[in-house]
Amino acid sequence: MAVVEVGVESIRSVAKGHSLPLVYRLFFLLIEPISALVGAYYAFFRQSEYLQLTHAASAPHYVPRGTSIVLSQLANLYFLFAINEALVLRATSDLRVWKTVLFGLLIADLGHLYSVRQLGPQIYWSVSSWNAIDWGNIAFVYLGASLRIAFLADVDQFTGFQVNGPDTWLKFHKNEFQPKPFGDYDIDIKIECCGVCGSDVHTISGGWGEQHFPLAVGHEIVGKAIRVGPKVTLIKEGQRVGVGAQSYSCLDCRQCNNDNETYCKHQLDTYGAVWPDTGIVSQGGYSSHVRTHEHWVFPIPDALPSTVAAPMLCAGLTAYSPLVRNGCGPGKKVGIVGLGGIGHLGLLFAKALGAEVWAISRTHAKEADALKMGADGFLATSDKDWNVPHAMTFDLIVNTANSFEGFDLDAYLSLLDVHAKWVSVGLPEGDEGIKVRNQTFLSNGCFFGSSHLGSRKETLAMLQLAADKGIRTWVQEYPISDNNLAEVMTKLEKNDVKYRFCMTNYEDQFGA
Ligand SMILES: NC(=O)c1ccc[n+]([C@@H]2O[C@H](COP(=O)([O-])OP(=O)(O)OC[C@H]3O[C@@H](n4cnc5c(N)ncnc54)[C@H](OP(=O)(O)O)[C@@H]3O)[C@@H](O)[C@H]2O)c1
Ligand SMILES: [Zn+2]
Ligand SMILES: [Zn+2]
Repeated sequence: MAVVEVGVESIRSVAKGHSLPLVYRLFFLLIEPISALVGAYYAFFRQSEYLQLTHAASAPHYVPRGTSIVLSQLANLYFLFAINEALVLRATSDLRVWKTVLFGLLIADLGHLYSVRQLGPQIYWSVSSWNAIDWGNIAFVYLGASLRIAFLADVDQFTGFQVNGPDTWLKFHKNEFQPKPFGDYDIDIKIECCGVCGSDVHTISGGWGEQHFPLAVGHEIVGKAIRVGPKVTLIKEGQRVGVGAQSYSCLDCRQCNNDNETYCKHQLDTYGAVWPDTGIVSQGGYSSHVRTHEHWVFPIPDALPSTVAAPMLCAGLTAYSPLVRNGCGPGKKVGIVGLGGIGHLGLLFAKALGAEVWAISRTHAKEADALKMGADGFLATSDKDWNVPHAMTFDLIVNTANSFEGFDLDAYLSLLDVHAKWVSVGLPEGDEGIKVRNQTFLSNGCFFGSSHLGSRKETLAMLQLAADKGIRTWVQEYPISDNNLAEVMTKLEKNDVKYRFCMTNYEDQFGA
């Protein structure tokens, strides 16, 4: 038993990124190659017997012996095909290659069966003793053909723009990949558009360390539910829906039962996560489709255009959750540090929640925009003593900065009132983080914390608030393509975005 398990495990590890279901693994990678070798051995060392039998059994009387020889030699080649198939399945994780090879073998199977069609009763029930040819030529061919048909019909594949690694993080390759197996609570979504998050850049450029490549990023997804699992109750087929940065949690632990599923120990990201038991790496929204458990699929209110809603599913939620959890509302003075994707939505949501909102940016470049978005005030940290007039006046500051370059934490914290809160959502690169001394907190006794995404409940409430109040993400739309993805990633890295890119025109790349 242990030997079989070790064998299967090593097969799985060789078939990288994808996992063949066990029955295919056992047959294509183990049983078929072994039987092929046995068959090849038999055919090679007992040529004349072999030819006699195949000629007598398979060829009608008018077929010249030469034809039988050719056919039987072709059948011999089949043994090589089978070995080749196993080697290819082991060597690559590209589903297109897998399918091409399996399809080629299927044609060979059918040709093989056709060539021995005259064998009839002799092979099926009146054969005197079963020998290697009977088993090799007939039973295995039938079994092989059936499994190949099942595999070709069974294994889904989606298409997406993947990056191969941080060294070539601006090179997007349109590849096919296998999603996780379809579960009872899953929904397949045909993607219509996807926002571009700062996390995409951190991930593919290597800023956050090792990742599972090849990888399609993108986790601000809006599309149409085209297939719903048998136990799905939250979403209907045909509905316009969204998916954000999280796609799984246990839904059973203390945190999950508390609307804190974003903090579940078992939470998995929409892209780059390894699905338990399958080895499949989750792929994001720069793809034709995404397959997601219903808990992380959200109906999009009719009042919100898709490209407006998409960026809310990560950036919007990341800002909205800490705002509502920390008392943002009328009578509160709230600061938003960093006017990027999350920051500008933070400003719009804080305003919609009724607070007095201040944008805190590095320069004055975005001041006019911030005021158009409804900011009550604007602070530029490049100004001398920028924080002094506002010292100890803020109730809450949400920090979205994605780097620590020139980041003067003490100056920001001095803005907070007594026991007021600083919540960081930005996730700068590097291992060092930021140093804080206890003394820093003494002057106002402020709290220092963080926040990750938000709950399903909060996502639905946020989308409703956006629909009710007519909140509009500031979006720059780009038709999805390898070149445009490279362009928007480059711009986002340079902070050249107003204020969220959104990839569109999916039908041009992935079909209707
Ligand atoms: N916690 C979570 O759940 C969560 C979820 C999604 C994303 N994130 C992370 O949040 C961060 C922001 O994401 P995003 O998509 O909003 O990125 P973004 O659009 O690039 O915006 C980041 C903004 O941060 C400000 N900034 C950059 N460097 C700074 C520095 N050295 N000092 C002060 N401000 C600086 C800039 O605003 P100004 O030009 O106005 O200064 C910039 O526009 C990323 O690190 C991302 O990975 C966290
Ligand atoms: Zn994100
Ligand atoms: Zn949980």
